Amino acid sequence: MQTPAFILERSRQIEEALDRLLPSNETIPQSIHRAMRYSVFAGGKRLRPTLCLEAAAAVGASEGEVIPVACAVEMIHTYSLIHDDLPALDNDDLRRGRPTVHKQFGEAVAILAGDALLTRAFQVLGSLDGGGEILNRRIHALREIGDAVGTVEGMIGGQVVDIESEGKEIPAELLHYIHSSKTGALIRASVRAGAFMGEAAPHELSALTEYGSKIGLAFQITDDILDVVSSAEQLGKTPGKDRSTRKATYPGLYGLDESRRKAKQLVIEAVESLDCLQARGENLKTLAYFFVERAA
Ligand code: IPE
Ligand code: IPE
Ligand code: MG
Ligand code: MG
Ligand code: MG
Repeated sequence: MQTPAFILERSRQIEEALDRLLPSNETIPQSIHRAMRYSVFAGGKRLRPTLCLEAAAAVGASEGEVIPVACAVEMIHTYSLIHDDLPALDNDDLRRGRPTVHKQFGEAVAILAGDALLTRAFQVLGSLDGGGEILNRRIHALREIGDAVGTVEGMIGGQVVDIESEGKEIPAELLHYIHSSKTGALIRASVRAGAFMGEAAPHELSALTEYGSKIGLAFQITDDILDVVSSAEQLGKTPGKDRSTRKATYPGLYGLDESRRKAKQLVIEAVESLDCLQARGENLKTLAYFFVERAA
């Protein structure tokens, strides 16, 4: 599936805003700012901020208010990639088609660049002009994102169990926990944070929550599948790593066909849950299909 035009347009919009929100390459200390920009502007798909913007648009949020939230999500995601690639974690050399940050700048700067992107994200979430109502919305979004990257059913929790499960046979429930936490939580939070920036009715918020959980899990299942079937040129990262490091993955436990079936089923259910949004849910539905039909 080719990247839909609205996703490309969102990426452009997000990159322009990220450029404004990150310190320039010339800002002292230059090494850290160069490493931050090197990783952020290496050409990621920008799917999490796009989800945030589209969820917000579906419930009538003002776009200008959502852009910083979407950028914060992408900064946190990029931090997670930098740390995920470190020798102590997945030990990867290639990311977004470039040498990983620790390969390019050394491990110390890579650790600090990840820390810096995480910190900058919360600075951005916490700084805003405007009065009471937007403040309330932004605090909801901030808490949602903070919870999603934390240790309790959040990204860090998932990453810990991912690392601790290498080389082991683990039960299906634990694999579900790893994938829903390390990747699903931030994807779901991207959707919900967008919804908080608008006027989502309770039934819309619960529909979007279900949608976010399901596509979040489907996204990581697809990432596992692509690690088996794709190439470095397509992925911009080294394929076959999950097998060589004996990671717990969906293809490893269920095989490729059943993993594909599960991911597709999750997307069908995610799309169904958006029926209450009617035409306002169209882009989110397209995003859901793209999550499992992407080539990288
Ligand atoms: C890769 O995420 C890491 C996972 C959580 C699977 P993406 O596939 O969204 O990576 P970028 O942002 O496009 O590089
Ligand atoms: C990454 O999962 C999850 C994160 C929180 C970064 P993977 O380790 O499978 O992601 P890739 O394949 O390196 O992008
Ligand atoms: Mg990993
Ligand atoms: Mg990895
Ligand atoms: Mg992977």
